[in-house]
Amino acid sequence: MIEVRRVAIVGFGTMGSGIAQVFAQAGFSVVAVDVSEEVLKRGLDNIWSGPFGLKKAVERGKLTEEQAREAFSKIKTTTNLPEAVKDVDLVIEAVFEDFEVKRKVFAEVDAHAPPHAILASNTSTLSITALAAVTKRPEKVVGMHFFNPPPIMKLVEVVRGFLTSDETVEVVRSLAEKLGKVPVISRDSPGFIANRIGVVPILEAIRLYEQGVASARDIDTAMKLGYNWPMGPLELADFIGLDVLLGIAEVLYRETGSPAYHPPPLLRRLVAAGYLGRKVGRGFYTYK
Ligand SMILES: NC(=O)c1ccc[n+]([C@@H]2O[C@H](COP(=O)([O-])OP(=O)(O)OC[C@H]3O[C@@H](n4cnc5c(N)ncnc54)[C@H](O)[C@@H]3O)[C@@H](O)[C@H]2O)c1
Repeated sequence: MIEVRRVAIVGFGTMGSGIAQVFAQAGFSVVAVDVSEEVLKRGLDNIWSGPFGLKKAVERGKLTEEQAREAFSKIKTTTNLPEAVKDVDLVIEAVFEDFEVKRKVFAEVDAHAPPHAILASNTSTLSITALAAVTKRPEKVVGMHFFNPPPIMKLVEVVRGFLTSDETVEVVRSLAEKLGKVPVISRDSPGFIANRIGVVPILEAIRLYEQGVASARDIDTAMKLGYNWPMGPLELADFIGLDVLLGIAEVLYRETGSPAYHPPPLLRRLVAAGYLGRKVGRGFYTYK
């Protein structure tokens, strides 16, 4: 079985930067790739001083100042993808949730990464089997689905594509454990496990709100106190991002045909109006 030592992350946005931080905190050397120096700088700022970044971990007493600096020094950045992947053992793709964009990235990574390297995608909804098909190593293509924010969330879904080998699944599963995460294994099916189930009650909460059955606050309170959810479904929708949620619902609706995933019209209106949730300060709630 290959031992993963060097890791490249392609796409240094919300998830890519969080995933880079997780690897660096676990002692791995990471090279992160994105399209411009400006985006790379934003990713590094997020890792150092973002709400789940290394400085916050020091303030919370999770890391010493020295450990935080050591982790930060393990992350290198570049806009040169071929150079970044040429001698790594694992590439994690975390670019936009768009099949065409991911397809091009996978083809380029496949052309430049060493033959033994595993190619993983952090996709939430797209097919691992379809991404594997654009490479010459489908047995080494796998889903490694982190949750947001990666430094905090324990779950990693390891997704087995149609042609993914047992060895690849095992390498990624045990790697997730080394990162301090809890891996679960899923076949390549729309939404895998957590989103396939979790999106349904969130969409139902939006329908209740849309129909005027209860206020946003009361819907959230009902689920927090009645079902012991740590966050209400509408708070969770704002946290995920209403545009991201809509994208997930659209794929699940298209792929399964189940009305449970039909995006409520209100969700579309909110996204069209730019009410995207916490990240812009407005969604179902208003944030400072
Ligand atoms: N945000 C979430 O809650 C969440 C949770 C789990 C999984 N995901 C998945 O993670 C992936 C990334 O999502 P995100 O929220 O981090 O998006 P994001 O928009 O924050 O980041 C995507 C990054 O990819 C970069 N990028 C785009 N094309 C590129 C290319 N060709 N080469 C290099 N970099 C490129 C962009 O510049 C951007 O910085 C998606 O597949 C998404 O479905 C997101």
